[in-house]
Amino acid sequence: MNQPIIELKQVTKSFGPVDVLKGIDFEAHAGRVTALVGDNGAGKSTLIKGLAGVQPYDGGVVLFDGEPVHLHHPREAARYGIEVVYQDLALCDNLDIVQNMFLGREEMAQGTFDEGRMEVEAAAALQSLSVKTVKSLRQKVASLSGGQRQTVAIARSVVKQAKVVILDEPTAALGVAQTAQVLSLVRRLADSGVAVIIISHNLQDVFQVADDIAVLYLGTMTARVRAAETDPDEVVGYITGTKTRGAAA
Ligand SMILES: Nc1ncnc2c1ncn2[C@@H]1O[C@H](COP(=O)(O)OP(=O)(O)O)[C@@H](O)[C@H]1O
Ligand SMILES: [Mg+2]
Repeated sequence: MNQPIIELKQVTKSFGPVDVLKGIDFEAHAGRVTALVGDNGAGKSTLIKGLAGVQPYDGGVVLFDGEPVHLHHPREAARYGIEVVYQDLALCDNLDIVQNMFLGREEMAQGTFDEGRMEVEAAAALQSLSVKTVKSLRQKVASLSGGQRQTVAIARSVVKQAKVVILDEPTAALGVAQTAQVLSLVRRLADSGVAVIIISHNLQDVFQVADDIAVLYLGTMTARVRAAETDPDEVVGYITGTKTRGAAA
């Protein structure tokens, strides 16, 4: 496989005496969906917060496109095009879809927000993901379904021209039909060339959408496998610590 866009080498993180990440190797590739799985407390969120720059790693190396980088602040992660869609989505209910997609980076035109341009770009982002479930871009986000909210949050990363999009349990609160919609959106996002990292507890979702699977067990990466070369039973074994497999991928 070609060079990963993100590569972690022996990354560590401790909270006081507790070693939460114990020398993690991990990689994510442009155009691929990498699922990050593991039981509660395994260290998934800690791994992601390091990539997002919100909670820097203590040790190890992060390579972006093969070059060592320092992710000590969300600003630095954003500069490399690393975007996280958190579980709470951080959307503003009282604002409409366009306003949410440009939150914090409104396009300025002669001192005021260029609403026309933002609307065009928002529409283009949704179209690039083949989103047809949103009727009006001027709908308030409060009126959207869970799946539509997730769609807006993911499309926001397209507006930001993200290269690496990290999704934290994007289908956790969704029903069957909306889960299918969001997973196909995740696939299209990867097909557009983005490296997608998806955290999920649902192995059915993982096997539906992921190309690669990375398993964390108590702060150790116990398996890195291609989805096509494993199965849910085996992955459950990695998650529960009854099975291990060297860094394959
Ligand atoms: N800020 C923190 N201070 C102390 N311990 C923490 C902190 N954040 C996470 N931990 C601990 O690190 C471990 C991994 O947590 P986390 O990364 O949230 O796991 P996951 O997302 O896989 O459920 C847990 O034991 C958790 O209690
Ligand atoms: Mg977590």
